[in-house]
Amino acid sequence: MAAFKTLAVAAALLGAAQAVDVNVRANGGNVTGKFDKFGYGFLHEDINNSGDGGIYAELIQNRAFQYSPSYPVSTAHYSPINGASLGIEFVSPPLSSALPASLRVSATNTTGQVGFQNEGYWGIDVRVQKYTGSFWTKGAYKGEFTAWLKSNLTTDVFGRVQVQSKSVADAWTEHKFELTPSVAAPSSNNTFAVTFDPAGTSNGTLDFNLISLFPPTYKGRANGLRIDIAEALEEMNPTYLRFPGGNMLEGLRLGAEWDWKDSIGPLRERPGFEGVWGYQQTHGLGLIEYLEWAEDMGLHFAVGLYAGLALNGNYTTEAELQPYIQDALNEIEFIIGPVTSTWGARRAELGHPEPFELNYVELGNEDWLAGFPGGWESYKAYRFPLMYEAVSKAYPDIQIIASSASSDPNPETAATDGLDFPADVLGDYHPYREPDQLVDEFDRFDNDFGHIVGEVAAVHVNGGIEWLGLLNPYPWWIGAVGESVSLIGYERNSDRIPMVLYAPVLKNINRFQWSITLIQFAADPALTTRAVTWYVWSLFAHHPITHTLPTTSTSDYGPLYWGAGRDDDRGGALVWKGAVFNTTNSSSVPVTVNFQGVRRGTKAKLTVLTNPGGDPFAYNDPFTGVNIVKTTETELVAGPRGGFKFSLPELSVAVLDTDVAAVSKDPPHHYWG
Ligand SMILES: *[C@@H]1O[C@H](CO)[C@@H](O)[C@H](O)[C@H]1NC(C)=O
Ligand SMILES: *[C@@H]1O[C@H](CO)[C@@H](O)[C@H](O)[C@H]1NC(C)=O
Ligand SMILES: *[C@@H]1O[C@H](CO)[C@@H](O)[C@H](O)[C@H]1NC(C)=O
Ligand SMILES: *[C@@H]1O[C@H](CO)[C@@H](O)[C@H](O)[C@H]1NC(C)=O
Ligand SMILES: *[C@@H]1O[C@H](CO)[C@@H](O)[C@H](O)[C@H]1NC(C)=O
Ligand SMILES: *[C@@H]1O[C@H](CO)[C@@H](O)[C@H](O)[C@H]1NC(C)=O
Ligand SMILES: *[C@@H]1O[C@H](CO)[C@@H](O)[C@H](O)[C@H]1NC(C)=O
Ligand SMILES: *[C@@H]1O[C@H](CO)[C@@H](O)[C@H](O)[C@H]1NC(C)=O
Ligand SMILES: *[C@@H]1O[C@H](CO)[C@@H](O)[C@H](O)[C@H]1NC(C)=O
Repeated sequence: MAAFKTLAVAAALLGAAQAVDVNVRANGGNVTGKFDKFGYGFLHEDINNSGDGGIYAELIQNRAFQYSPSYPVSTAHYSPINGASLGIEFVSPPLSSALPASLRVSATNTTGQVGFQNEGYWGIDVRVQKYTGSFWTKGAYKGEFTAWLKSNLTTDVFGRVQVQSKSVADAWTEHKFELTPSVAAPSSNNTFAVTFDPAGTSNGTLDFNLISLFPPTYKGRANGLRIDIAEALEEMNPTYLRFPGGNMLEGLRLGAEWDWKDSIGPLRERPGFEGVWGYQQTHGLGLIEYLEWAEDMGLHFAVGLYAGLALNGNYTTEAELQPYIQDALNEIEFIIGPVTSTWGARRAELGHPEPFELNYVELGNEDWLAGFPGGWESYKAYRFPLMYEAVSKAYPDIQIIASSASSDPNPETAATDGLDFPADVLGDYHPYREPDQLVDEFDRFDNDFGHIVGEVAAVHVNGGIEWLGLLNPYPWWIGAVGESVSLIGYERNSDRIPMVLYAPVLKNINRFQWSITLIQFAADPALTTRAVTWYVWSLFAHHPITHTLPTTSTSDYGPLYWGAGRDDDRGGALVWKGAVFNTTNSSSVPVTVNFQGVRRGTKAKLTVLTNPGGDPFAYNDPFTGVNIVKTTETELVAGPRGGFKFSLPELSVAVLDTDVAAVSKDPPHHYWG
């Protein structure tokens, strides 16, 4: 934690705007959240290698030669060693019905070891730590395999291990190994290789499949998450995880949805998934891995249940819907059913007998969007009502979320009637906006029923460029401050808004379109970067409230925006959150926050985030490692009437908290830094 410092007074030179007094009442607010207090979090779906090659720690790309109508089977990301020939075969028997294709390695050069290497997901991070690997083979082989971690640029070998062959002619055999390199690689431009001696085979040919290599994982889970990325998320102090989409849930066409049943069980039983973001996916980050992620990070979660709409706009007829409803009920049973239930038993068989805690399910995703108006009309007419009826009847304690907001469909798209929301259903609102528009979000929920904000981010610069223009390459400062104003607006209404989720949360620097994210990464953990948005979301998430508190002021909202609350989980700590956007002539705003009932001399900690460089478009660039966000912590002492006085510069985000020990983490910009 940063030491207390005196707040920079330089901003005062720019002149001061009209002073704002905010009076926070001691009582009269509302309890936040529903099952737990209001919280922040994120949507995760495997968008452009944020799952495979991202938070999912598997290092081998194309490990099981999976394919789908959009992505033909191939040996992509493999290359031969010592003149071997590599090809895809559909051998009999296959490794499994889920993984029918395999890699045939044939020696054309009888001298020396032959084999293949895999380039990973844009490289492989090699350091002195234990890697856990395995591969399956078919074909008679007496001898040893060698598994290698080596440079892709030089002849350097960082680690290797001999694996005794158990390979036989007519069946598939698994080979497991552990590999601890003796030295760390200077860069992530490395490969993983497996070689064998063709002299020990019957005709120089062996078949390989499910070639897997994991570094140590978050909380040591087998088939788990990448540590540096998971810890960067955890340090944000999130409360909620929404998965598996997003668009990912819907699939490209009917029958190609994210089928949870394909995503559970041993990896050799997972056929993979076509995805919707331009690449074949492994389904290694499956339902059980998402649930364990939530469990390990202490997150509540909202699960998207498929509701019969595909991204190409096709949707199920009413007559075809029933199997999907049953499938959604089965999925809930898998998550929370007792071990005596069919799917609860399956969960226990997979190693998790204790039911998970499931409080939120969402029926579909953005059903107002794809295939409008037919998809939307079908959602209103039967897809939502029938699923709602079945799920609420079977699980009356689960909060059901509809996939639209009270303001959907987007009136710019077309004007039509909204969903007729049952009183106990929450909406889901997805504002991807310009910073100015996010400031306008401040009062969005002052007169509305409950929603989750299931996806929100500043994505475009001000000026109406919208979707036709480019997204900003990284979250930028004025965008983050715009988000902070909208977050305060949502939190002010957190008796009806239980969660606010950033999306998309992770960006693989090697492959992206949705550039706006909380965390950027590549194979090299030195590039793992917390975006400017991460600092804003983390600050707010570290100062939670159990109750909103009413405020009055000498000023209207703008350029200062604020909200206040109390956290009974921290002994009744009083919290005020504020942001300054669009002051006249970049002046700072003098603020006095008076907490009713707080005595003179009470201490509070003020944390202010600023961008001292002043450029509203500044961002945290992974390649320079410079964090443009300055975090200033000041201990303030209440004057008469419990008032705390301070000044906030233009484009700043602040939290005042009477729990002076409250955590506001200021970690290094780079995780390994
Ligand atoms: C508490 O909730 C009620 C009903 O939604 C609302 O009218 C009131 O403004 C809320 N109070 C606060 C402090 O947000
Ligand atoms: C065959 O192996 C030998 C010895 O390892 C090597 O010198 C030669 O380059 C290899 N030939 C091919 C085509 O890879
Ligand atoms: C690895 O090095 C090769 C050759 O210099 C280069 O083409 C490639 O982009 C590098 N890859 C990474 C991930 O740095
Ligand atoms: C490894 O090197 C080859 C040849 O230089 C290059 O084509 C490939 O992209 C490199 N792999 C990675 C992960 O950069
Ligand atoms: C080697 O033998 C396997 C069966 O044992 C066969 O499927 C394969 O075609 C043979 N390869 C060559 C190059 O003859
Ligand atoms: C799905 O959409 C395609 C065109 O996008 C259409 O040809 C096909 O008939 C549709 N199928 C169903 C089941 O609606
Ligand atoms: C901020 O100021 C600019 C320039 O005056 C104006 O166009 C914009 O609407 C303002 N934004 C907000 C949210 O007040
Ligand atoms: C995924 O990334 C690739 C490479 O940057 C890009 O061409 C593609 O448009 C992206 N697709 C999506 C849907 O983000
Ligand atoms: C803002 O700056 C302009 C130019 O320096 C000046 O004319 C104007 O009076 C200033 N406005 C305020 C409210 O300070």
